[in-house]
Amino acid sequence: LRVGVMISGRGSNMASILAAAEAQDCPYEVVLVASNNPEAAGLGFADERGVAIWAHDHRGMKRAEFDRLIDAALRAANVEMIALAGYMRLLSSEFVESWKGRILNIHPSLLPKYKGLDTHARAIEAGDAEAGCSVHIVTPELDDGPVVAQARVPVLAGDTPETLAERVLKEEHRLYPAALAKCAADVLQSRSPA
Ligand code: GRF
Repeated sequence: LRVGVMISGRGSNMASILAAAEAQDCPYEVVLVASNNPEAAGLGFADERGVAIWAHDHRGMKRAEFDRLIDAALRAANVEMIALAGYMRLLSSEFVESWKGRILNIHPSLLPKYKGLDTHARAIEAGDAEAGCSVHIVTPELDDGPVVAQARVPVLAGDTPETLAERVLKEEHRLYPAALAKCAADVLQSRSPA
């Protein structure tokens, strides 16, 4: 299945998605890495590995207008499923509707807890014994939509948002490629004649 990954920054989740795609039995290939931030570090990483990249600065553009531009790039690359990986912009409902059920996101909390930013600080503040990450299908509301996979880690005494983020990020890098592969395999399966 042809996957487009959307990033805004570092791109470590994108890198884990690319690494997993190298396995012979991986049901997806990454055909485009697209960004709203031409300075995103992850773009250079993808480019060095021979993956097509696309970037355009969203600043000064209306949300729907920018989303039409990135949509055109994804469609030109014949993308069939999108993985948001640290894509730090809310998507227009038009965009989400037109890719309905075919956009995944990773969020660093055990959804439905802690949508939005500062998830690790909020988990520590609340005294939670566990934190984690969730892969979910994207709907127009932020960090909403059906959860398809989760991973849990303990919150340890003395954790700071940084130490907890590091523990959760390791799980993100394992969880996201696996969840994406599962969803891609399901799509391929649904297409193949019974
Ligand atoms: C990750 O923690 C992800 O869960 C969140 O933003 C961060 C992106 O990191 N949505 P990276 O760009 O994948 O390294």
